[in-house]
Amino acid sequence: MSSTDDDWASFNRRRQPRPPRELLRRTLGCIEYAGAEPGVAVDLGCGSGADALEMLQAGWTVHAVDADPVGLALLAESAGPELAARLQVHQARFEDFEFPACDLVWAGYSLPFCPATALPAVWQSIVGALRPNGRFAGDFFGDRHGFSGSDDVHVLTEAALRSMLAGLSIEAFDTEDGWRPSGGVITRWHAFGVSAIRNPKPPHPLAHDGA
Ligand SMILES: C[S@@+](CC[C@H](N)C(=O)[O-])C[C@H]1O[C@@H](n2cnc3c(N)ncnc32)[C@H](O)[C@@H]1O
Repeated sequence: MSSTDDDWASFNRRRQPRPPRELLRRTLGCIEYAGAEPGVAVDLGCGSGADALEMLQAGWTVHAVDADPVGLALLAESAGPELAARLQVHQARFEDFEFPACDLVWAGYSLPFCPATALPAVWQSIVGALRPNGRFAGDFFGDRHGFSGSDDVHVLTEAALRSMLAGLSIEAFDTEDGWRPSGGVITRWHAFGVSAIRNPKPPHPLAHDGA
């Protein structure tokens, strides 16, 4: 697998519209049930923006980040003037983006395409941007994924991912280990969907003394 800017532009054109991802909806539900108001979210690698739209519709202020201008333009068009008042689009690479202080960073199937050498610094920026009780949620490819070994996709073992998440409290850790249609072919799919909180405070059930 090789992803050029043109590949992402045509991927993002094809992907519009689609339903929001279940992991995002679950994460937003946990935030709502914890009694928090919608805050500031970053949609990292937003593509054509189905998930950014879901957050806007739920009342969040959204910073949508992607290197591909085609996806960002589709998102701005679908948001319309009312939701666009709470939307900021950033045509930027993850490696260069200056994260605002935020309550949620959502990265739906985007961080596996961040260069592996840049991931540690990007991850530090993500965690550093989260306010107390802020969440990271998103997807990573596992080491048995069919894209493992590709030049521009990186995969993580479960142990490496859990170690990356060590400073956060894990709210969800989903594993998919099988096959699914992707890009027109049945693809070996090994992925982790995670949601994790920075310094959870009571009354969240994951909060504990010293958290
Ligand atoms: C697989 S798509 C996922 C899009 C969307 N989040 C979704 O779930 O449908 C990956 C997206 O990340 C963007 N992307 C990949 N690497 C990037 C990087 N290093 N900086 C900025 N955007 C990047 C691509 O342009 C593409 O829109």
